[in-house]
Amino acid sequence: MLIMLFRKALTTDIPQIIKFRKILLGQEDNNTMDETFSDYFSSSLADSSLVVWVADDDGIIVASVCFCLCRLAPRFENPSGMVAYMANVFTIPSYRRQGIGSKLIGKAIDDLKEQGIRKILLHSSDIAKPMYVNLGFIEGKNYMTLST
Ligand SMILES: CC(C)(COP(=O)(O)OP(=O)(O)OC[C@H]1O[C@@H](n2cnc3c(N)ncnc32)[C@H](O)[C@@H]1OP(=O)(O)O)[C@@H](O)C(=O)NCCC(=O)NCCS
Repeated sequence: MLIMLFRKALTTDIPQIIKFRKILLGQEDNNTMDETFSDYFSSSLADSSLVVWVADDDGIIVASVCFCLCRLAPRFENPSGMVAYMANVFTIPSYRRQGIGSKLIGKAIDDLKEQGIRKILLHSSDIAKPMYVNLGFIEGKNYMTLST
């Protein structure tokens, strides 16, 4: 590994981000949604409703993290009302356990904080939970969902 570059994603990174997303969804070989994914990532990056960070090892994207930005009603502890939903957290297997995921997320969160986004939400996989705890995330008690 050369020096790992942690940076915001460019539109040229979208195919690799989609590949990671499909692996995360257990649909690596399913191409039926490729255009839908591509439209989503292109338009959301363009209108800044999505922020994506990647770890770039000499031109190869080895990890990603996405933040969907959303403005909720202001709260006293969050006057901007801005929250980010974190998703698509992925490091390719041969690069895991080297601190890349943690560093990438840490840098992205620092950058969001500078923009006034100080509340991050996520759903965790079992494997990723220790990483999120180390990064300071706290498990919520009253989280509920409804799928209709
Ligand atoms: C979760 C994931 C992104 C971590 O990426 P990474 O680059 O390996 O992260 P780090 O090296 O910073 O590891 C951070 C911590 O996560 C935990 N962790 C990472 N991989 C682990 C594994 N295979 N088993 C147990 N704990 C693990 C450890 O606590 C680790 O710290 P340590 O190595 O000091 O013990 C990566 O394992 C992955 O892509 N997993 C599959 C997809 C996934 O679960 N994504 C999260 C969706 S919410």
